[in-house]
Amino acid sequence: LEIFGKDRRNSKGLDLTDIVDVEPLMDDLAKYQDKVWKAAPIIGGKDQVGMGQPATNPAMRLDVLGEVQEATQEQVLLATELAVEAYPDWDFIGGEARARYLEDAADALEDRYNEFMALLVREAGKTLSDAIAEVREAIDFLRYYAAQARAEFTDPIRMPGPTGEKNLYKLHGRGVFVCISPWNFPLAIFMGQVAAALAAGNAVLAKPAEQTPIVAYEAVKLLHKAGIPGDVLHLLPGTGETVGATLTSSEKIAGVAMTGSTDTAKIISRVLAYREGPIIPFIAETGGQNAMFVDSTALPEQVVDDVVRSAFHSAGQRCSALRILYIQDNIADTVIEMIKGAMDEMALGDPAKLTTDIGPVIDDEAKQGLLAHAHAMSDAGKLLHKVKPGPECSNGDFVGLYMFEISGANDLQKEQFGPILHVVRYKTRDLKRHLDELKATGYGLTIGVHSRIEGMADYIYANSLAGNTYVNRDQIGAVVGVQPFGGKGLSGTGPKAGGPLYMHRFAGERVLTINT
Ligand code: SER
Repeated sequence: LEIFGKDRRNSKGLDLTDIVDVEPLMDDLAKYQDKVWKAAPIIGGKDQVGMGQPATNPAMRLDVLGEVQEATQEQVLLATELAVEAYPDWDFIGGEARARYLEDAADALEDRYNEFMALLVREAGKTLSDAIAEVREAIDFLRYYAAQARAEFTDPIRMPGPTGEKNLYKLHGRGVFVCISPWNFPLAIFMGQVAAALAAGNAVLAKPAEQTPIVAYEAVKLLHKAGIPGDVLHLLPGTGETVGATLTSSEKIAGVAMTGSTDTAKIISRVLAYREGPIIPFIAETGGQNAMFVDSTALPEQVVDDVVRSAFHSAGQRCSALRILYIQDNIADTVIEMIKGAMDEMALGDPAKLTTDIGPVIDDEAKQGLLAHAHAMSDAGKLLHKVKPGPECSNGDFVGLYMFEISGANDLQKEQFGPILHVVRYKTRDLKRHLDELKATGYGLTIGVHSRIEGMADYIYANSLAGNTYVNRDQIGAVVGVQPFGGKGLSGTGPKAGGPLYMHRFAGERVLTINT
């Protein structure tokens, strides 16, 4: 594997402990607190006119932050036609030209850091530190795929061949790519998918999550302003049942990249299999049942810090988040008590405040699903600790923090996508059985290990399906180009986002043979 762009630097982001960053940020957050945003389909570079619905802030449902207009079926079909026509020119301008557009977009995003943060806070309930990380990740994706476009999608490779013949191998876009993105990283994952597809030379039809179309709308505006042609990139807000279904059943598309639930990925896979038209690539990044193993040689303070960050930060709404914590039985009581103490220290509330650790979950449906699980587990006598949201949370979709004790992964039917941690006390002789149970769930996204024993991490790594294994640290927050991110099995098809093979799945190969 070639590691391209070695001199590429990840964005430095903002520092919430540095007054030079914090003062303008707080001023800007105040400025954007009452702004009314919008999201509408953008087709051929133009906003489409239609009826909108109000969008509200998950931390404060009385706060209407904008109006959202969904794409109609006719608009989806029109965008598809325009993208089909625009693709060849975009592909043939080459990787170097496309890289420059994406790098301009990255610079523009860096200039508008605070504004995008404000929007992430209000539309997605992101805390300030999560919003910083998300804008930074979006910038990193743009620059990473730009570097790869320049390195691998610009000049053809001359293949060895007989005298009198020239053989040129070249990576191209495939055609029109559909990008379906999730609400939990409405800027970073949206931008990552779209940037990779564009950088490889594809035209793009982007469908953002229905909960978070406004940040996607602003991102597409920014990309167009940076020079990406309107006919090459279209935004189609709407639901999976309407916009998603029309897009994925089209015979004109050349590939689909989707991040979301495993169930949705299976539906799309079936649609792609049975529709008319070519057989096309499907890139899915889906759920997990992520675990961490802690043995008695680990440093308890560090463990607690990393558990809390992995399980509860971002309100547990990361696909990488920790769901099942395995603690060796002889230290379990101590570590559980320390986690309880740390949970009590967490500040739940308005994500726009510097002091808030945990914001809301994305919507009422998510909240009700998580609370139903929490009530069932509590009724079954498995509750170890909970932190209830305070009165300042009463107008938003907050669920609090929960820690339950279970006997193993088989006690859980499915992933709980929120701030709910399950703890298993394990004996060393049962380690293999627990790892087998985890494997049998079929998921393989992240796994954590805390141990000072040489060989423990190797053992877990060798006996799990996880795409990302983290040793003696937290297990969230993969960095573009540093920890390429993605899982196996029910967790996704690969390739890993922010890794050297991701763009290749958006690419087609062509060979030109010339008799000279
Ligand atoms: N990429 C994110 C992380 O690593 C998860 O979606 O936390």
